[in-house]
Amino acid sequence: MFHLLLSRNFSFYLLFFVMSCQTLPKQPTDSQRGTLADNGMVSSAHPLASNVGVQILQAGGNATDAAVATFFALAVVYPRAGNIGGGGFAVCRWADGSTNTLDFRETAPNAAHRDMYLDENGEVIPRASLDGYLAVGVPAAVEGMWELHKKNGKLSWQAVLAPAIELAQNGFELTAAEAEYLNKYREDFIKQNKTLPAHIVKATIWQTGEKIYHKDLAKTLQRISEKGRDEFYKGETAQLLLAEIKAGGGIITAEDLAKYHAIWRKPVIGNYKNYKVITMPPPSSGGIALLQLLHATEKYPIRKWGHNTARTMHAMIEIERRVYADRATHLGDPDFYNVPQEMLLNKNYLKKRMADILPHEKTPSEKIKEGKVERIESVETTHLSVVDKDRNAIAITTTLNGNYGSKVMVNGAGFFLNNEMDDFSIKVGHPNQFGLVGGEANAIMPNKRMLSSMTPTILEQNGKLLMVVGTPGGSTIITSNYQTILNVLEHQMTMQEAVDAKKFHHQWLPDEVLLEENGFDDKVKAELQQLGHRLEPIPALGRMDCILVLPNGKLEGGADKRGDNMAVGY
Ligand code: GLY
Repeated sequence: MFHLLLSRNFSFYLLFFVMSCQTLPKQPTDSQRGTLADNGMVSSAHPLASNVGVQILQAGGNATDAAVATFFALAVVYPRAGNIGGGGFAVCRWADGSTNTLDFRETAPNAAHRDMYLDENGEVIPRASLDGYLAVGVPAAVEGMWELHKKNGKLSWQAVLAPAIELAQNGFELTAAEAEYLNKYREDFIKQNKTLPAHIVKATIWQTGEKIYHKDLAKTLQRISEKGRDEFYKGETAQLLLAEIKAGGGIITAEDLAKYHAIWRKPVIGNYKNYKVITMPPPSSGGIALLQLLHATEKYPIRKWGHNTARTMHAMIEIERRVYADRATHLGDPDFYNVPQEMLLNKNYLKKRMADILPHEKTPSEKIKEGKVERIESVETTHLSVVDKDRNAIAITTTLNGNYGSKVMVNGAGFFLNNEMDDFSIKVGHPNQFGLVGGEANAIMPNKRMLSSMTPTILEQNGKLLMVVGTPGGSTIITSNYQTILNVLEHQMTMQEAVDAKKFHHQWLPDEVLLEENGFDDKVKAELQQLGHRLEPIPALGRMDCILVLPNGKLEGGADKRGDNMAVGY
């Protein structure tokens, strides 16, 4: 008996001792969290757009209705990336657990050809794929929203477009950032347009809080609301677009517009430990690259090593180096190029691919594959995340590519056209504006979709919705998503903390690590330099819009303070 008591007591003390030695999981307080809500939430790049999405949810709309309404609102209030003249990708997870993705990426016009941005000596004509009319891919956004809504919308098409039309017609106040951007690109608007967009380029500079109206855009959206997607591709809007293209010497034709179609694609799905990751397949490189990064990270004890320590960062940088080298070689539009998706995501392949990572030394990128590139110039795109009361979830990333795309506004229709053609590999080994290089897989061909880095992503835990993530940032989209996901899963941050946390980025070429300014310890930087890494400061990485489902069922929004982003819930 005495022995039994003794052993029972001993077990109790042993258990107590073991428990007290373990690090208790961090229990964040509500004040550490972002926006909290019980029912539904929308997180986007602009407070007015997020508000529109939540109004739609409150009016009985589902996640699709809210996402489409938010998308069109962003086209009005955030025209440097929100758009109807661009394209993007949507990843959807429905309340019953089913998933799908919509590819509404722009295509190369039929008259496009492989060497269209090269001179007679085969040299790249500077900025030809970035500025003006030849840079424009066939716009895809309206078809994308139409398709999403047709498949899963609950409210009428007119109801989801109404708030955007009202914002465009009745005007809204500019945020400081939006006023600054309109002023910054003033000369480009003048230079790139055949007809000056007078409501954008005015005699005086834009001020914070000043009201801006987009009357032509309001009329365009009204026509699309009344007549549906055909209005954009075959109706009056198509005529205005084609007249603008013709005036500027572009190559998009009526046939290009009429035949554009969005494509429902099977998501790429993988696991990170016990979490299921549902993300975008090609022609975005983002999903495959994100899964490669996460799979390759599994073997490293990064939680133990700590967030943004030299050891953790070194491992992640070396993985990034190899994944971006794969991206350049193997990824392109799957309808034109046989993307070796299974091989890239095969765990044995990844094990071998990462086998030469050295713990105490960086691998120079030239040893992995050769190439020379310049610095990232612009990182515009935008993302929105939506979760509704039934826990349907949508992640949409959309873009004009550069800020205000090609800077060309369709006269009389009031929207900017993309400069997405630069996302093709315009010459083998020549870097695009993000410094990304590519080859055959992403060469220009008529009607082909250009490779993207956009990575709208949804995570599940135990068969239930866990997280919706995404961000703009060109080539840095993939690594910002990667870090934000690990910040929550490994470093036990709240959604808002994970978004706020300072980010870094490596993309194989150029062989440098971008670090957000004022965010990294001098000691960590010195250690990384000792391992051979070249460090470059960058003002900001990512502008995430994320939603996390908490264990108690509530939603936490993480909206990036690097921009005007806001999560709104109800
Ligand atoms: N235009 C940026 C991207 O699609 O990745």
